[in-house]
Amino acid sequence: MDSHKSIQNLSIPELDVDAVRKDFPILQTTIHDKPLIYLDNAASSQKPEFVIKTINNYYSYEHSNVHRGIHHLSQQATQQYEQAREKVANFIGANHSHEIIWTRGTTEAINLVAYSWGQNNLKQGDVIIISTCEHHSNIVPWQLICELTGATLRHLPLDSHDKSFNLNKLAEMLTPNTRMIALTHMSNVLGTITDLSKVVELARHNGSLVLADGAQSVPHIPVNVAELGIDFLAFSGHKMLGPTGIGCLYGREELLEDMPPYQGGGDMIETVTMSQSTWNQLPYKFEAGTPNIAGAIGLGAAVDYLEHLGMESVRAHSHKLNSYAISALSEIDQISIYGPRNPSVRGGVFSFNHADIHPHDLGQVLDSKGVAIRAGHHCAQPLMAELGVGSTARASFYIYNTQSEIDELCAAIKSAGEFFSK
Ligand SMILES: Cc1ncc(COP(=O)(O)O)c(C=O)c1O
Repeated sequence: MDSHKSIQNLSIPELDVDAVRKDFPILQTTIHDKPLIYLDNAASSQKPEFVIKTINNYYSYEHSNVHRGIHHLSQQATQQYEQAREKVANFIGANHSHEIIWTRGTTEAINLVAYSWGQNNLKQGDVIIISTCEHHSNIVPWQLICELTGATLRHLPLDSHDKSFNLNKLAEMLTPNTRMIALTHMSNVLGTITDLSKVVELARHNGSLVLADGAQSVPHIPVNVAELGIDFLAFSGHKMLGPTGIGCLYGREELLEDMPPYQGGGDMIETVTMSQSTWNQLPYKFEAGTPNIAGAIGLGAAVDYLEHLGMESVRAHSHKLNSYAISALSEIDQISIYGPRNPSVRGGVFSFNHADIHPHDLGQVLDSKGVAIRAGHHCAQPLMAELGVGSTARASFYIYNTQSEIDELCAAIKSAGEFFSK
């Protein structure tokens, strides 16, 4: 679904949040003797029992190395590992499962493209465009490859009014030398959702490629790479109910075919002699060494769980919480929220500042009340500079969060305000 279309009027099954919450062991626990209110999902989501059990079962009864053995366990592990790849490919609408490369996460996926594609395709005079609101992992790899190749890194400024992407400005910046536009699909600070179809339309006129950082979008909104027409998509398992240390790069087949390996070692070769080596087929060319087998299988289970809920329902739940959070937080005079007010163009990531309390102090007071939020620069220092702040507090929601938890958040902020004004 195009995330920019209004979803208010569509008939989408509502999430049974009470039932969802029962699936998460950690939500049955307390922090400082208070029920846990976990609002740090943009950093990492919690895990349902289904995912935990799948990983436990794999290590307890099914573990072996993949792709190497002729014995039963190795074949079974390989089958599960490759099935997980197929699940991920279907989940994001890829044409082929070999367009899914396992990585450690979004960061490694973007580094893979920057080095492997960049090394082969960039030269002096070429331009990469990113934006001011990128996570450091979609800034630094491009800085490094530009330094190596002599290409230039330019950034798309944000709209001064609501800090959204100014696509007219992007159109003005594009030249035939623009080789790659690498943008976040959903900001991890502002929650803003990028209209990627429009970005792709602009890029196609200039022959540029488009990479989307899907770390925040893939867990929360339906994402279909074929419909969007993007060339690369990077995302992390741990933000979408899966384990840490596993993530994906989606790349269009013909682009991946043309790219050289990113790392050398076992599994990524076809033949090795003492003088030279040839490369394995996709996706293995990019997967040197023993992979994170349990991680991939765990991520496959997370995809099963999300598909069982339905991504349209996941998005609808987020929309509902976002509308509620915008009005609830806006009622607190001392709070300024960053990012768009319209819940249809944003995800459930709310960065805000309190007029009288430093974000770290606010985070600490909230923690003492069992409310887990994040405070800091959120790996987005250029955006903090643009917002004119050193850090923000950030509350981010997921499938198990409720309106009453947002009420608790607001009550805790108000009580912190009263405490600090004494
Ligand atoms: C938008 C965005 N991009 C990239 C990343 C990096 O993800 P990871 O640390 O899982 O590689 C994050 C993590 O917070 C993110 O929010």
